[in-house]
Amino acid sequence: MADISSNSGLKRSKRSKWSIFGSVVALLGVIAIAVGVGVGVSNKTSGVSTSSGSTTSSNPGPPKLRDPNDPSTFVKNPNLKQSFYGMSYTPEGSLLPNCGNSLSAIIQDIQLMSQLTKRVRLYGADCNQSALVLEAIKQTKVDMQVFLGNYPTPDDTTTYTRQRDTIKAAIQTYGIDHIAGITVGNEYILNYLKNYGSEDPNGDVGNKGGQQLVADINDTRGMLDGLKLSKKIPVGNSDAGSYFNNLVLEAIDYGMANVHPWFAKTSIRDAASWTATFFDETNVQPAATLPNKPKMYIAETGWPSQSSDAANANDGVSDASEANLQIFLNDFVCQANTNGTGYFFFEFTDEPWKDEVYGGVEGHWGLFHANRTMKRLAIPDCPVP
Ligand SMILES: *[C@@H]1O[C@H](CO)[C@@H](O)[C@H](O)[C@H]1NC(C)=O
Ligand SMILES: *[C@@H]1O[C@H](CO)[C@@H](O)[C@H](O)[C@H]1NC(C)=O
Ligand SMILES: *[C@@H]1O[C@H](CO)[C@@H](O)[C@H](O)[C@H]1NC(C)=O
Ligand SMILES: *[C@@H]1O[C@H](CO)[C@@H](O)[C@H](O)[C@H]1NC(C)=O
Repeated sequence: MADISSNSGLKRSKRSKWSIFGSVVALLGVIAIAVGVGVGVSNKTSGVSTSSGSTTSSNPGPPKLRDPNDPSTFVKNPNLKQSFYGMSYTPEGSLLPNCGNSLSAIIQDIQLMSQLTKRVRLYGADCNQSALVLEAIKQTKVDMQVFLGNYPTPDDTTTYTRQRDTIKAAIQTYGIDHIAGITVGNEYILNYLKNYGSEDPNGDVGNKGGQQLVADINDTRGMLDGLKLSKKIPVGNSDAGSYFNNLVLEAIDYGMANVHPWFAKTSIRDAASWTATFFDETNVQPAATLPNKPKMYIAETGWPSQSSDAANANDGVSDASEANLQIFLNDFVCQANTNGTGYFFFEFTDEPWKDEVYGGVEGHWGLFHANRTMKRLAIPDCPVP
């Protein structure tokens, strides 16, 4: 989803990506609808108070500070609950060549997100975002683990090495206490296949892309070796759920899969159970058959709250709406916690740059608006085990 490594060809990459993904999951979608019987149960077990009025008054903006000079003294909002396993996060202004992020903005984000989760995942390392997030965690003193990201462009090794070096510098400055992993590659195989006109992640083309990415993954392990940290920080990869290459899976400690009921054109009523079934069948079970048994997470899942144009206002069955985002929260979050699924909710805030570049629903997946006030949502109340 978040193509933050390059500005060129963004639109094209987006469109074709989802059309490929959509066609691959169409078949699975049919299967999943037949399996979507857990929905009635999930509504009852969601643990969310949907009593009227609870959402309208719960519109927190950025946290206030008890001591204006100490970011750790932020006032918590009782409407926010630490119910999410993890959160997908891209600090605003972390896209080359127009870096515009700031420590103060990232501190506010960490203050808010720490009230929702103990884990965030980043997509890339450009614009110093690894160090900025780790600095924000240090200053806010929150209990937060980060999966750092390195977002290389296929066939361009400089994007990889540039990000490796800033990740290395961040580790040297901040240590590893708040680093849960380093994710090397985001939608790399998906993009590689698209570039070379192929669809099979484990065909010849997929394996060629896989070998390139494995070299980067190995290189990151080498970097950690050099810091005497090789066994201490897991190295992983993220890709669209249907696009994992086995050479890559065999080289990583963990994989993160994008699993999007919206793009698979499911009904909102089936969205949570479809997500669970797709992830289990497409990612968890196949990974468990490999010798290294990489741990699998859902890298992104969520539901858009609106579309900027009428053509994308629904997925063919259900609307992009805050009401449906609420249903997905109710059905997915507490069940996934109970099931022990590691997932990163997509996403923390709306991203206006994506709306400008792609239109449609792309900029509207946040729990929060871009101005950091919350949408009209009730956050489920169920601690992550
Ligand atoms: C960002 O990167 C530079 C190195 O270029 C570093 O000196 C700076 O302190 C970093 N960290 C933050 C939090 O800005
Ligand atoms: C990656 O490292 C593994 C284990 O050290 C090795 O077997 C493999 O050949 C390496 N692959 C690449 C592409 O560097
Ligand atoms: C949780 O597990 C149950 C039982 O396997 C399944 O029916 C359900 O869809 C799962 N839900 C989520 C959100 O993981
Ligand atoms: C924040 O943005 C939303 C959506 O654009 C808007 O409805 C709301 O009024 C804004 N809130 C503030 C405090 O600016």
